[in-house]
Amino acid sequence: MNNLTRRDWLIGSAALVGGAALAANAHAQSITIDGYVPTPENPIRMSSNENPYGVNKKASNAMHKAHQYGHLYGGGGPQGPLTELIASMEGIPAENVMVAGGSGEILKTLALMTALEGGKILAPQPTYDDTFMEYSDWRGIEKIWVPVAEDLSIDLDAMHAAYTDDVRIIYLCNPNNPIPTVMHGEKLKAFVQEMSQKCYVFVDEAYYEYVVDPNYQTMIPLVPDHPNLIVTRTASKVHAFAGIRIGFGFGSPEMLAKIKTMMTGSINGPAMWGAIESYKDKEYQNFVLRKNAEALQVLYEFFEKHGIRHIKSNANFTFFHTGMDVVEVYNRVRQHGIAIGRPFPPLLDWMRISTARPEDMVFFTEVYEKEFLS
Ligand SMILES: Cc1ncc(COP(=O)(O)O)c(C=O)c1O
Repeated sequence: MNNLTRRDWLIGSAALVGGAALAANAHAQSITIDGYVPTPENPIRMSSNENPYGVNKKASNAMHKAHQYGHLYGGGGPQGPLTELIASMEGIPAENVMVAGGSGEILKTLALMTALEGGKILAPQPTYDDTFMEYSDWRGIEKIWVPVAEDLSIDLDAMHAAYTDDVRIIYLCNPNNPIPTVMHGEKLKAFVQEMSQKCYVFVDEAYYEYVVDPNYQTMIPLVPDHPNLIVTRTASKVHAFAGIRIGFGFGSPEMLAKIKTMMTGSINGPAMWGAIESYKDKEYQNFVLRKNAEALQVLYEFFEKHGIRHIKSNANFTFFHTGMDVVEVYNRVRQHGIAIGRPFPPLLDWMRISTARPEDMVFFTEVYEKEFLS
């Protein structure tokens, strides 16, 4: 089991539901949708950190209208205005911001850049193991893994101690994924200031909007004065653009130019028009955050009732102690029409669960109670 790769896991999951086509057809469903019955083949998705409420109406209308520019290269996309909007929201110059077709594009490009320039990746474990890590595995880039601390947060002191001169890039996911803890803002700032003199420091802030810990700080304000710092954000979470694809990179103009030269993906125009509306629509964002907090609360109360160790989340997922192999937990929960996380070595008896709607989380607690606690 320890040798199970993410690819094996995905293949195994698809086999369980009788084929990749069925798995791909599963949408972010909810038991509140009229006529929808969760099944193993079309489960409620609590496995990919998606937004269960979908794209907001204003963004959807803007994308609909933008199809009239679909025949134009770049889709007549407002890349300049979108970049300026994000830059002004973050209080930094637009020259420090780039748009991509999802932040994953930038993650992969940074792995490619590391491969071309040579050197190792220094990263906590566990952390986000898709895109950047998968791509760097494929390129054969060596990693220095630093286990998370006792409380499962990223251990910056241990990361500092593990640094060697052949490290090219340090990856820090803040909030981390699959464990939605954050690093202390001041401590991280000092770490970034020091370590970015020695190598690239990449801070992935995909779940930034969900943070509730008052000690958190974004590293974006450091970007203009730290040429080796790269920060990424995504529209895939609070904005529900996971399938539409918009993400952002923050870095020095030289760093962003380098990334753009190597990046092979492109950004579609309708997605950019939609993103402008979505980022302006605070009401929708607040609604999603409120519902996420409610969904997490359902889980916290359940875990507390049963004395199950879990993490107070700064994201749209949490991490809890199953005390048994997560593959077995996954399979048994899936039979009830719910898809939850996957193995995150080395913590193979801890499960990641993404939030769906609060009502769906109640359904999950009922299933879990019946399967494992009664
Ligand atoms: C930590 C982290 N970074 C980056 C991404 C990639 O996001 P996207 O490519 O959708 O912007 C994800 C997706 O789940 C993530 O969890």
